[in-house]
Amino acid sequence: MTPRLEELTPANFDAAIGLRIRPDQEHAVEPVVQSLAEAYVHPAGVAWPRLIVDGDRPVGFLMAFLDIDWRGDGSVRRSGLWRLNIAAEEQGRGYGRFAVGSVADLIRRRGGRELYVTWHPGPDGPEEFYLRLGFLKNGETSGGQTVGVLAL
Ligand SMILES: CC(C)(COP(=O)(O)OP(=O)(O)OC[C@H]1O[C@@H](n2cnc3c(N)ncnc32)[C@H](O)[C@@H]1OP(=O)(O)O)[C@@H](O)C(=O)NCCC(=O)NCCS
Repeated sequence: MTPRLEELTPANFDAAIGLRIRPDQEHAVEPVVQSLAEAYVHPAGVAWPRLIVDGDRPVGFLMAFLDIDWRGDGSVRRSGLWRLNIAAEEQGRGYGRFAVGSVADLIRRRGGRELYVTWHPGPDGPEEFYLRLGFLKNGETSGGQTVGVLAL
């Protein structure tokens, strides 16, 4: 497994929006095409979308958020992982861990010391994945989602 990240281009756009998680996971994350639309409408530099590729196989998609105004009042700025979609047939091979590590490296390079994520609570969400990677719940919720933070 030697995954890499690719910027989104016209050449890989179809592969990115064609990624499918398992149907029973669709409540937990938005489709890739929605994430790309959100990246487009946010100010430049806020969203950092990347295709995860292994060899010639598109295996997943991630989108980081960088220095967002978390509460909308300028009091708290945070960076983290906004979206993560690993293709159904590629799950369980370490690509999710690679994605989190890649975003951790990005935030560290920018001088950040915390990686935030929010997830759908309960056993049908990705909570165990994030806890296994070292995220801690910080006691907050955001839009009904659990807030987790990884110290970098
Ligand atoms: C959650 C998700 C990103 C995990 O990606 P993945 O590539 O399957 O995860 P990895 O193979 O990198 O797993 C890393 C570790 O987490 C564990 N893990 C992954 N998913 C798990 C789960 N649902 N429950 C328990 N452990 C899990 C793996 O066993 C592995 O542990 P190990 O290294 O100790 O063996 C993927 O299942 C997915 O895309 N789910 C649907 C969308 C979603 O929920 N996205 C997150 C939105 S916040």
